[in-house]
Amino acid sequence: METTTDPNHSWVFGRPANSPFAHPRGLIGTLAGRIMRRTNRQHEVADLLDVRPGHHVLEIGYGPGVLVGLLAERVGDGRVCGVDPSPEMRELAVRGNRAAVRAGTVDLRLGSADATGFPDAAFDRVVTVNTVVFWPDLEAGMRELHRVTKPGGRVLIAWHGGSNPSRATRAHALPEHVLARIEEAMAGVFTGVVRRELSTLTAFTATRP
Ligand SMILES: C[S@@+](CC[C@H](N)C(=O)[O-])C[C@H]1O[C@@H](n2cnc3c(N)ncnc32)[C@H](O)[C@@H]1O
Repeated sequence: METTTDPNHSWVFGRPANSPFAHPRGLIGTLAGRIMRRTNRQHEVADLLDVRPGHHVLEIGYGPGVLVGLLAERVGDGRVCGVDPSPEMRELAVRGNRAAVRAGTVDLRLGSADATGFPDAAFDRVVTVNTVVFWPDLEAGMRELHRVTKPGGRVLIAWHGGSNPSRATRAHALPEHVLARIEEAMAGVFTGVVRRELSTLTAFTATRP
């Protein structure tokens, strides 16, 4: 598979992904973030991730930070960290989780799936929702997820789809061969990969051996 140094390159599209939902920038990017904040309900993801009090959790591509907030409610004296390449999303997500950021429960940074900047084996749970298509290099992202996950830790990768998608969600669903590539790349570094259909997301979970 082709590799590239362009951070906007998508391994799925084979070219840069230019949508403001893929790479939110400027006013239009902030508007896209506000739309995502209203539409992206992610309780099922938080449930499936099985976050327990004391866990350290990393979200990759947190966007406006809705899932960050749900996870922060579950970690108790643990921590929710996040990376996203968009300064506009960081601003929205920090604003939406201000109390938890002040309390030190939430730590949101700039970064990407293949360069999170966190130490090895730092997290019990690593999650990413609606970002995997926008990674420049699928395998490089998987290696980074593996690197930062503790042995025995759980990883969850989800993308638009699921058992009850809206028309808009269905338009973003991935063909089976692309889902198979994600599953295969995940199985290359993790064990026990399982695919589940949530209501509006297709989710893969796996464990770091
Ligand atoms: C469609 S939004 C999803 C946001 C959030 N996860 C949600 O579901 O509401 C895609 C997000 O992925 C981020 N993103 C784009 N490329 C990325 C990469 N290589 N690594 C991590 N995040 C990326 C974007 O900045 C944006 O916030």
